Amino acid sequence: MRPLPGALGVAAAAALWLLLLLLPRTRADEHEHTYQDKEEVVLWMNTVGPYHNRQETYKYFSLPFCVGSKKSISHYHETLGEALQGVELEFSGLDIKFKDDVMPATYCEIDLDKEKRDAFVYAIKNHYWYQMYIDDLPIWGIVGEADENGEDYYLWTYKKLEIGFNGNRIVDVNLTSEGKVKLVPNTKIQMSYSVKWKKSDVKFEDRFDKYLDPSFFQHRIHWFSIFNSFMMVIFLVGLVSMILMRTLRKDYARYSKEEEMDDMDRDLGDEYGWKQVHGDVFRPSSHPLIFSSLIGSGCQIFAVSLIVIIVAMIEDLYTERGSMLSTAIFVYAATSPVNGYFGGSLYARQGVSFLFRKEMDKADVYWGIPYPSYGVWHCLLHQFHSHLLPCFKSHSFWNNGGRLLHLFFCYSSSKSCWYNTWPKSVRFMEPAVIVCLGGILPFGSIFIEMYFIFTSFWAYKIYYVYGFMMLVLVILCIVTVCVTIVCTYFLLNAEDYRWQWTSFLSAASTAIYVYMYSFYYYFFKTKMYGLFQTSFYFGYMAVFSTALGIMCGAIGYMGTSAFVRKIYTNVKID
Ligand SMILES: *[C@@H]1O[C@H](CO)[C@@H](O)[C@H](O)[C@H]1NC(C)=O
Repeated sequence: MRPLPGALGVAAAAALWLLLLLLPRTRADEHEHTYQDKEEVVLWMNTVGPYHNRQETYKYFSLPFCVGSKKSISHYHETLGEALQGVELEFSGLDIKFKDDVMPATYCEIDLDKEKRDAFVYAIKNHYWYQMYIDDLPIWGIVGEADENGEDYYLWTYKKLEIGFNGNRIVDVNLTSEGKVKLVPNTKIQMSYSVKWKKSDVKFEDRFDKYLDPSFFQHRIHWFSIFNSFMMVIFLVGLVSMILMRTLRKDYARYSKEEEMDDMDRDLGDEYGWKQVHGDVFRPSSHPLIFSSLIGSGCQIFAVSLIVIIVAMIEDLYTERGSMLSTAIFVYAATSPVNGYFGGSLYARQGVSFLFRKEMDKADVYWGIPYPSYGVWHCLLHQFHSHLLPCFKSHSFWNNGGRLLHLFFCYSSSKSCWYNTWPKSVRFMEPAVIVCLGGILPFGSIFIEMYFIFTSFWAYKIYYVYGFMMLVLVILCIVTVCVTIVCTYFLLNAEDYRWQWTSFLSAASTAIYVYMYSFYYYFFKTKMYGLFQTSFYFGYMAVFSTALGIMCGAIGYMGTSAFVRKIYTNVKID
């Protein structure tokens, strides 16, 4: 009776998903990226922030910089992803025209009082850099410099822009900061700029290449790590299939031999092993609601990762500000049905189907597990007036939108499995050990890639080797499934039937290792300091690890449940 709505749900979800994925593609109205001679070229001021934490950003004009005299500018759109990343472009007021050189000229004056001086000194002490855009090309410059004894502070006041053009397109921008001026209270500081246009041979399609860093993302290291993980995969798959083939065949042989003995013999015989729990394996897990919400979320996160990586491989998403994040958010909203379908059907299969649509309302509480942590940041960010503040508000919009879809597709086929009315008393093996050990191998297969991903997130590197990321994701899936199957086999053999949570947690414990790795990364690879940066870093990493853990857990559970169903359907139930 139920499979029909389930199938309909999936079909409708697929259609909706396609629709939503196509939506962001249709907005190509921003810039043509072509200019006529003397046409206005806009220099956008973006953010300013400490060099050592790329994610902490403030508005450029939160520092008391002055604005140029030009006031009117052409219309500009912001995308959602830009807003979420804290990109909020403001016009610099500089007069720049295509192929029109500007001799060094003062564009404005800063009236430096004590307060403004302190602001600059603080920024210089913390190695603040600012970021600007010309025709979507990012430009970075340093705010100022301190002398060795740290008493005098200097501001760079002269921006020397060199812009390369190829035909009617801008293909290259270089910024040189000059004109060091000492910060003395109650003086006037003149800000100046010059623009030089140069013919360039760089092709428009290749203009982002200079921002990529092939020597950092060395392909050799990647191949090496992939090769390494691949060996591990082969080894693991071999191991798993060997264990299962041999022991399962032996087990089946033993069990069927026992069946031929008469009842008397069997009562005396020592039946042991996984078959003993056949009456209990399909018992619902404890806390079925939380469990199915986690599995649903994990499936969704997996779908999002997969789709975003594929899209990123096809289109070079890094060339457009925030497009990566926009895509991820759209895909996240569009894949909510995946969450609803897997979570809902699992919940229904746990035998509580008649209530479950009402219960799914409650599931949203768990579904939004990462959200409370945003709340904590919200306070912190408010405290520090960070530039990112407004962006967190739009999260609730996506949360609610997704929730609607999610509830809508919570139909499923409910096929409850038979299980004993009274649970068998278990000889508990220590699942905690299994859980802790389970994450090591999956972590081992991804940690080299983690280094590159962390570095591109926290430092000024642009990640562009999505092909490798895809390979690593595939390897991660295989390793996770293999490891959890082995873990579950041992668990069931010890006649402990509580495999659902164990399989989920043993795969999810990868996250613990990733989080531990992030500590190492923090202390040895970044130069962040202070309460704000530290909480910022560990908060983001906690959310990242949690998401990764839920994803791995769901993958592990899915693989294991297929395995469990397979071995127990071959057993004759007496
Ligand atoms: C920018 O700097 C690079 C490296 O120094 C140079 O190759 C390129 O020609 C410069 N571009 C312009 C437009 O000056």
